[in-house]
Amino acid sequence: MSDAGVLENVAVAVSAGRIAAIGEARTLAGLHPDAQEVDCRGCVLTPGLVDSHTHAVFGRPRYNEHELRAAGVGYMEIAASGGGIHASVRDLRGRTEDELYRLSLPRVRRLAAFGTTTVEIKSGYGLSVDDELKSLRVIARLAAQLPMRIVPTWLGAHEVPLDYRERESGRDEYARLLTEEMLPAVNDSGLARFADIFCEPGVFSVDDSRAVLSAAKDAGLGIKLHADELENSGGAELAAELGAASADHLGAISEAGIKALAESGTVATLLPGTLLFLGRSKQAPARALIDAGAAVALATDFNPGSSPTVNFPLVLTLGVSQLRMSAAEVTIAATVNGAAALGLAAETGQIAPGFLADLALFEGEDFRELPYWYGDRRCRGSWARGETCHPHEPGLG
Ligand code: NIG
Ligand code: FE
Repeated sequence: MSDAGVLENVAVAVSAGRIAAIGEARTLAGLHPDAQEVDCRGCVLTPGLVDSHTHAVFGRPRYNEHELRAAGVGYMEIAASGGGIHASVRDLRGRTEDELYRLSLPRVRRLAAFGTTTVEIKSGYGLSVDDELKSLRVIARLAAQLPMRIVPTWLGAHEVPLDYRERESGRDEYARLLTEEMLPAVNDSGLARFADIFCEPGVFSVDDSRAVLSAAKDAGLGIKLHADELENSGGAELAAELGAASADHLGAISEAGIKALAESGTVATLLPGTLLFLGRSKQAPARALIDAGAAVALATDFNPGSSPTVNFPLVLTLGVSQLRMSAAEVTIAATVNGAAALGLAAETGQIAPGFLADLALFEGEDFRELPYWYGDRRCRGSWARGETCHPHEPGLG
């Protein structure tokens, strides 16, 4: 992760949606006299950013909770009183598929304006068979409409719905609904590539998570976990045990969890924007993870409760400033390792011949400027398979 493989004064030739060659501009122009040129001078061209963790399909934003937390009410306390994820669930259940699609489309486009060309989007604000399928259909429509690569994840296990929480046997009933009804329906629909679960004390235990994710794995889905986000419960160890594609959050991961991830093929996906936005003082131990040999990815966690940002480069800033990663490490984390967290490492996340032409252009003369100009939008264009995700705006060069 310490070498981003930076080249200077080169051009990239793209053909049929893939990277054909990398070389001196004049040579490539001679080989491809009819090629359309995009002037990248004054800019840094990176692999399109891979945002491997978002909850981008939702209705109403939850700015009221932002203020409540400032006044001292905790994230879990807000959830316990029917807010948090429950508030987004009530809201989403009351909306039509069309309405949700119209609300989500501009939000996902904004991700591309910051350089993201591959985005994973989770359901998880439906928590019923019909409402989860509705969310997954919205994700499929976004994928059909936009040139970005969109990876759909089923997160029916995002919360235990309030009406189930009220009954003593409700938890077990909801766990059964997940594996016996929702998972088969989701699988039949073909609308999800991964299954995810919020493995956290008070939400789903490690045993619940093992049951739901094992069933999902048997059904042929890839698996991911929200693990050890606020409190440690052994979620990271479970992710390694099950061979999950990624374990995400890890704000409270233990030493044993770090070791388990380092020895596994599971990517440790860190979401520093979330812990920052929640006002938490402690971030995930990125250095310990990297130094132990784990593959670390970064992502926005874009969602209406804990991380309402579409600005992936800002997350890279936090990677350097809060997680003490180098500019090369955060760049790899947002490209190569993000792709690995989605099982796409052989296709996207690198500028190399044969890889998909997923590219992002940022104003600046050094790649270290990407995490440096924090909060700014320096993206001057983004492309997936050579198709425009965000239109080219020439740099000041
Ligand atoms: O990744 N932790 C659970 N899920 C989201 C938050 C969702 C919400 O608050 O709406 C997360 O932080
Ligand atoms: Fe999340």
